[in-house]
Amino acid sequence: MQTASSDTVRKSATAEDGKPDNGEPAIDIQNVTKSFGPQKVLDGITFQVRRGETLAFLGRSGTGKSVLLRIIVGLQTPDTGAAIILGKNMAEASADEISAVRKQMGFLFQHAALYDSLTVVENVAFPLAHHRPDMSDAEKKELVEGLMEEVGLENYLNKMPSDISGGMQKRVGLARALALDPVILLLDEPTAGLDPISSGEIDELILKLQDQHKLASIVVTHDMISAKTIATRIAIMNQGKVLIEGSYDDLQHSDEKFVSQFLHRDL
Ligand SMILES: Nc1ncnc2c1ncn2[C@@H]1O[C@H](COP(=O)(O)OP(=O)(O)O)[C@@H](O)[C@H]1O
Ligand SMILES: [Mg+2]
Repeated sequence: MQTASSDTVRKSATAEDGKPDNGEPAIDIQNVTKSFGPQKVLDGITFQVRRGETLAFLGRSGTGKSVLLRIIVGLQTPDTGAAIILGKNMAEASADEISAVRKQMGFLFQHAALYDSLTVVENVAFPLAHHRPDMSDAEKKELVEGLMEEVGLENYLNKMPSDISGGMQKRVGLARALALDPVILLLDEPTAGLDPISSGEIDELILKLQDQHKLASIVVTHDMISAKTIATRIAIMNQGKVLIEGSYDDLQHSDEKFVSQFLHRDL
């Protein structure tokens, strides 16, 4: 059990914060299939993620990892099976329900797009402008500056995205993903394109944020070291299926040839 006494714990993980933490999975993916024309991209995917857990997905390019994240967000619908997010079946939910669920999700998409014409701090504040009309400008400023501090960018508030490094841009993306204080965090290749040192720093940051916010997280990555660092469980995907899901140790004991290839290539 993790204690809640640390001053870094920003919010309670109990029902007090109004967020579901009843032991039910925040993300419940049930036998999802998805094809594009003749191409079956997802072929019966099932898994759950609860608050406090991080599931990493590894797999070759084109195995449907990003499609899976888009199904979770409700941007695409499964052909069969269901994506139940915070208790809502995303394919059957009303627009209002989907919008309410999305507010509880932070995402850092692949090629995390920051708005080029906005400063770093304006990028982080962007979701608040749309979703938190109840907050005063002073409250928003305090929240955003707190997030910038959390990701270690308190001295870069007014820089433009093009003036900071790739690793810093990812940090801004993470701060923006957390602006609405989500329950779920979805990260699509958060360390892609970064040098190993910056990747390690982003991994450390993700670990810290997951712990502080008690998130249910999914991380798509090519990087086994990163998966080992930040994930509670790792799922390896191939040809639309999850070949194995388990701890890093479980994977090491797998007889599956593809799994050992994946493990040994990246280490
Ligand atoms: N909207 C779409 N229409 C047609 N094909 C798609 C669409 N989205 C993804 N695909 C195809 O699905 C496959 C999986 O894509 P993706 O999920 O992006 O893979 P990755 O595992 O690299 O993230 C790819 O072959 C891609 O071309
Ligand atoms: Mg992808």
